[in-house]
Amino acid sequence: MTLPSRAGLDAVPPYRQGRSAPEGASKLSSNESPHPPLPSVVRAVQERLGTVNRYPDMSAAALRDDLARRYGVSVESITVGAGSVEIAAQLIHAVAGPGDEVIFAWRSFEAYPSLVRIAGATPVAVALTADHEHDLDAMLAAITPRTRAIFVCNPNNPTGTVVAADALERFVAAVPHDVLVVIDEAYVHFDRTGSRGAGIELFRRHPHVAVLHTFSKAYGLAGLRIGYAIAPPEVAENQRKVAVPFGVTDLAQAAARASLDAEDELAARIDEVVDQRDRLHALLRDAGWPAVPSQANFVWVPAGERTAELDALLHEGGVVARTFPGEGVRISSGSAEDIDRVAAALVREAVTA
Ligand SMILES: Cc1ncc(COP(=O)(O)O)c(C=O)c1O
Repeated sequence: MTLPSRAGLDAVPPYRQGRSAPEGASKLSSNESPHPPLPSVVRAVQERLGTVNRYPDMSAAALRDDLARRYGVSVESITVGAGSVEIAAQLIHAVAGPGDEVIFAWRSFEAYPSLVRIAGATPVAVALTADHEHDLDAMLAAITPRTRAIFVCNPNNPTGTVVAADALERFVAAVPHDVLVVIDEAYVHFDRTGSRGAGIELFRRHPHVAVLHTFSKAYGLAGLRIGYAIAPPEVAENQRKVAVPFGVTDLAQAAARASLDAEDELAARIDEVVDQRDRLHALLRDAGWPAVPSQANFVWVPAGERTAELDALLHEGGVVARTFPGEGVRISSGSAEDIDRVAAALVREAVTA
């Protein structure tokens, strides 16, 4: 007897989580915040624990109100999900199905191709430039009558490169209005170029732009699973139809609201992560590794055939990073102690080489 299996799923690789770290090692494989949640956020979650016998507010009305006020957009344009990865899935399911195409750069966030295939649509991966940046001209050239959405991951995971605001605006203006441009700003808070926040401005100025944000990275709530999109209201309405009901818990909503209230405190933590990222980049470069300057909370090292060597070096030094065999290693920015460890691991290479 053969159990049923949906056609096309053979082509969907299971999502690979960043490796877990042995006790005492530095886990720099999932772009998480090295900081524990703020006390005010812990309190907000604790206050809600007594009501987990109830379903959460599926519309996340209070949080969406907060976000709408914060960005000066309509509540109808805001959708929430169990992490921005769920929001990316909602957006794809809202606009694309069998026979449709979704374009994204490659390498980029690993979930994009799988999410597109799960929707029954066809992923169209456009190679990054030699400088590890989005090739916007090639992405425009890849648009066909079947294209329904284009993802621009800004800053890009895993390369940490940024599409400048003016280039992104020219790109958005050149994309036909019947194609949704999804600007995935999961790492936007770590961007120290003038392009930070460009997505929301483009949402205001163009009818076919959606922006993805997450509380997982800069806000340090990866374990609670909550993210949101600001999308054209008609797209947002369809996202609500395809979303899994009650996907976002009350605890996550409370933590997100408390985090928005604590942004000044969080900004200091984000600055620390950015300082350690820049230190990490300098350490790698000084040790002779081809590290790419990053505007995210990680650094990409396209080590090519030396990938396994770098991975082993880090591993022996008690650092678990994200390795793409034969391509490179992505190392998340951690605490000062985590990056001290990376420094020690790299020096060890200099001694043994
Ligand atoms: C570019 C990008 N978008 C979205 C996500 C999803 O994050 P989350 O679902 O935790 O919000 C990630 C996670 O690594 C990411 O790298």
